[in-house]
Amino acid sequence: MQIAVFSAKPYDQAFLLRAATAEVEFQCFELQLNPSTAVMAHGAVVVSAFVNDDLGRETLSLLAEGGTRLIALRCAGYNQVDLAAAAELGIRVVNVPAYSPYAVAEHTIALMLALSRKLPRAYNRVRDGNFSLDGLLGFDFYAKTLGVIGGGKIGQLVAERMRAFGCRILIYDPFNEETCRRLGFESVDLDSLFEASDIISLHCPLNDQTRHLINRDSVAQMKPGVMLINTSRGALMDTQAVLDGLKAHHIAYLGMDVYEQEGSLFFEDHSLDIIQDDVIQRLITLPNVIVTGHQAYFTKEALQHIAETTVSNILEYLEDKPLTYQVGG
Ligand code: NAI
Repeated sequence: MQIAVFSAKPYDQAFLLRAATAEVEFQCFELQLNPSTAVMAHGAVVVSAFVNDDLGRETLSLLAEGGTRLIALRCAGYNQVDLAAAAELGIRVVNVPAYSPYAVAEHTIALMLALSRKLPRAYNRVRDGNFSLDGLLGFDFYAKTLGVIGGGKIGQLVAERMRAFGCRILIYDPFNEETCRRLGFESVDLDSLFEASDIISLHCPLNDQTRHLINRDSVAQMKPGVMLINTSRGALMDTQAVLDGLKAHHIAYLGMDVYEQEGSLFFEDHSLDIIQDDVIQRLITLPNVIVTGHQAYFTKEALQHIAETTVSNILEYLEDKPLTYQVGG
């Protein structure tokens, strides 16, 4: 069966084609899925999509009209899917719940270290023959307090790795307190986490409860000089509030791999464009900010796991088996 695959970059295609079987063949499009491109999937019973594809009601209705019955997401998050609309239209949705939590945890720590030790600046300076240390002063992670919001797979890995640096670990996760305590982490409420943490790292899903969890009020609660890291989902932060916190020198470091308006920017080369989004442009100019373009997951191991799980998700559907990774109804 031909599967219509959207947002498939050459690196995705390489791993998907390797995982393909006689029953599951991929027809790959680099374009994002949205109401204008949905027509390309006409006749495809299974459509595969990624994080920034538009799976709102309009796109889903067009896909349903074209005969689509399964959306195979190649990512863990499904906040981009209108699950209620999918259920009404008889479209089932599967995801890849954990492709490499290690990849995201390691990138999170890479951002923390690069920010603290000012590696981008040091790298550029040395290449220019400048070996001065002015402006490169870092801080020890040892004996600092890390606050992790969302103590699931990735949050736990980040916490374990930062504990190895000698950090005290606080976790806020109202749905996973027992596990976090059993792993030896301090389970705290959100206010205590904001007030006590030197570094705050976000690892919860994006939903109605967590949208703009980091906002003007929560920034004001944080310690002056705090480091804030978001490798989870952009809209967990009110980015303008965070930018204002940086300009006021209240937030001292920001590392972000995700951005609330990333859909029209990330995964594409805009180096010759005049980027119209003034918030991201301003953030990129700040010396104490590192932005990466949703690359935390991007390791060989993760891409292989995504491709293999996508194929097994589709095979389960084609063989009329229970869908192990179905999301929503
Ligand atoms: P997970 O499902 O294992 O853990 C999420 C945790 O968040 C759960 O323990 C849950 O109880 C907790 N949680 C839910 N609502 C919460 C709330 N209101 N406050 C605090 N905690 C809450 O998910 P996993 O694998 O650890 O992934 C975390 C996030 O990482 C995903 O939601 C996804 O958005 C993001 N991600 C980012 C990637 C990247 O490349 N930047 C790649 C993969 C995931």
